[in-house]
Amino acid sequence: MNMERMNVNHLERVTTSITPSGFFGTSKDNIVELENFMTEEEINFLEKSAKGITIWDVTESHVNENGTTIYDANYWKDRVATRPSLDRNDPKIGPVIEGLFQRLQPIIENFFNVKVQPTGQTIVRWLPGQLQKPHADKELHDGPDAGLPNDFPYYDIASLFYLNDDYEGGEIYWPLQGVSIKPKRGAAYFFPGDMNYIHGVTAIKGNIRYTVPFFWTILEHTGENKPDMNKDYYRTLLDPENRGKNLYESVYEE
Ligand SMILES: [Fe+2]
Repeated sequence: MNMERMNVNHLERVTTSITPSGFFGTSKDNIVELENFMTEEEINFLEKSAKGITIWDVTESHVNENGTTIYDANYWKDRVATRPSLDRNDPKIGPVIEGLFQRLQPIIENFFNVKVQPTGQTIVRWLPGQLQKPHADKELHDGPDAGLPNDFPYYDIASLFYLNDDYEGGEIYWPLQGVSIKPKRGAAYFFPGDMNYIHGVTAIKGNIRYTVPFFWTILEHTGENKPDMNKDYYRTLLDPENRGKNLYESVYEE
């Protein structure tokens, strides 16, 4: 492969998925925490930078053909800063996060036997009282829309960095695996983006919580086990009797 071609590949953003939902199974072993992923210098810089952000993205909601809101701009208003916004706050932030992506990439590629491409650099803040109901990152997971694509079908693997720990609540939990984690400052996390790995965030209390969410699009499966797009992989569906209700809410209600 010549350099010109490689550069094109590097810049091109792939927005389709070659990985069927359910391919990675349901094991909690696919939910990975890497403590102290960042150096002290990186975490100190990013925590301070995140707390200093004043410019946030302005976005619009999207609705699918069934009338379901698949991206709710109001929910994310004034708390998401993607790369263009980060650059306007401080152009040093984006490259530091990019460096972290580069360090995490080989770990992801070895773990899942894949070649991947990351999405962009983003910082999100969670204000006291805010929470997130269980959801899958690459598809809709509940009711008649379960399994239909959301706006991000190429979010094959989810990743998060956490930038602070001076707040209460704000635990991330995976109800299907029965896993709940109080995120650690400076740690990295990753897990599959499909509906077998729905996850939520408990209400934040006290202070603002800052995260760096991002995703990996799988470009190639390098292991023996290749996905078969025609196969129906096992996917956990929520109890249809309780459709519309959040099955896990009672467990995590304040
Ligand atoms: Fe998510």
